[in-house]
Amino acid sequence: MKSIQVGLLGIGTVGGGTFRVLQRNQAEIMRRAGRGIEIAMVAARDLDKARALVGQAAQVVGDPFAVVNHADIDIVVEVIGGTTLAKQLVLQAIANGKHVVTANKALLAEHGNEIFAAAHAKGVMVAFEGAVAVSIPIIKALREGLSGNRIEWVAGIINGTTNFILTEMRDKGLSFDAALAAAQELGYAEADPTFDIGGFDAAHKATILCSIAFGIPVQFAKAHVEGIQTLQAADIAYAFQLGYRIKLLGITKRTAAGVELRVHPTLIPAKRLLANVEGSMNGIMVKSDAAGITMYYGAGAGSEQTASAVIADLVDVTRLCSANTAQRVPHLAFQPDAMSNTPVLPMSDVVTSYYLRLNVADEAGVLANVTSILAKANISIDAVLQREADEVGGEGATQTDLIILTHDCVEARMNEALAQMQALKTVLAPIVRIRKEELA
Ligand code: HSE
Repeated sequence: MKSIQVGLLGIGTVGGGTFRVLQRNQAEIMRRAGRGIEIAMVAARDLDKARALVGQAAQVVGDPFAVVNHADIDIVVEVIGGTTLAKQLVLQAIANGKHVVTANKALLAEHGNEIFAAAHAKGVMVAFEGAVAVSIPIIKALREGLSGNRIEWVAGIINGTTNFILTEMRDKGLSFDAALAAAQELGYAEADPTFDIGGFDAAHKATILCSIAFGIPVQFAKAHVEGIQTLQAADIAYAFQLGYRIKLLGITKRTAAGVELRVHPTLIPAKRLLANVEGSMNGIMVKSDAAGITMYYGAGAGSEQTASAVIADLVDVTRLCSANTAQRVPHLAFQPDAMSNTPVLPMSDVVTSYYLRLNVADEAGVLANVTSILAKANISIDAVLQREADEVGGEGATQTDLIILTHDCVEARMNEALAQMQALKTVLAPIVRIRKEELA
C-alpha cells in the first residue's frame, strides 16, 4: 500500500525531531502502522536550513497553505505553535478533508471546541498526544486506557520549567529570581518566561485533561491560574519542615457541584510519588473509581520526546483513517452527542485545605486572635508551627512567623477569614496562602 503522505508545518525543534525519529524508526513504525508514513512536504521559514535537514526526502516550501491545500497530503502535522496562523492552517486542513496532528496546547485549550466540531463535521481526526506532557501518553491513558472508569480527579506537574525552578529553590535554598536565572541559563525557561512561570502553559494542558477526563467542552477561560512568581524560599522551607513539598499543580476534580479546573502552587505530602517528581520532569496522578490511583512520569518537553507523541498520533491516524468515523476514538474521549454541560466551578466554590504564613508581632494573644477568626469561620486547624522570633528575625526580633495548616474548607470562607486576619494590627505583612492537597 502507498505510504500515507504527511505535510509538516514547521521544522524547528519538534518538527526536526519528528522528521529524525520517523526516519530512524521507519521500519519499526511501519510494522506497527501496517503502512509507511512519509513526510512528503515541509513548510519552513528558513528554506535552506529545512532543505539541509530533509535533503531530497521531502519537498520544502515557504508557504504553509501550500501544504494544507496540496491534494496529495493525507495528514497535516502542525508544530509551528501560536494560535492565529496555526488555527487558520488547522481549520483549512480540516476543510480540505485532511487529518491533523498537533502538539499545540494553547490552540486546543482556547479554540478546541471549534476545531473538534469542524473535524467531526468533516469526518477527520485531530490528534494531540503531544499537547500534554509530551513523552507521557496521558491522552491515550485517559481517553482509552481508563475508559472503563469514572474519573474523580487528575493532578499533575505539567510544566517542567516551573518544576525545575521549585526543585532548585528547595534543594539549594535559592530565591525565585536566582532559580529562574538558573533555568534560563540551562535553556529550560524562555527569555520571556511569563507563559511558564505564570502558570498559563500548565493551565492550557490542565484544560485539555479536564475535558477528556469528564467529557466537557474545553474552557480555558474558566481555569483559575496562579503561577510561582511570588513564592518565597521561606515557605518552601517551612513546608519541608512540615512534611510537604510545594509543586505547581494542574488540578481538575469532579465534585457534586461541578468540575474544578485550577493551576496554582500546592503543598503535597513529601511521601507522595508526585512530590518526588523533580527537576524538569513531569508527573501526573489520576484517581478513578476502578483503577484507583495511577501515576505517569516522564519528560514534558524536548525534541524527540515530543516527536514520540506526534508519531504515535501519526500511527493512530494511519491505522484508523480508513475506519468508519463512528469507530474512531472521540476527540474529547466522550461521544460528541454525549458531552456533559457540568459547569466549571469558580475558584470561590473550590474546597481545599490551606497553608497560611502570618508574619506577626511576637506578643500575647496574637495566636488566640488568629485562631478565633478561623474558629468563627468554622475552619478547622490541622497543625500550627510557631518559630522563635530570633530564629526568624535574628536576636532581639519582635516579630515572628506563624504557620497554620487547615483542614478542607470552601475558598470563599477562607477568603473572608483571611481578610479579617489581615486586618489585625498584629499581622505585620501580607499573609501567604498556599493551597494544600493530600492526593490520597
Ligand atoms: N515550556 C513547557 C515546560 C514545555 O516547561 O514544561 C512545553 O509545554
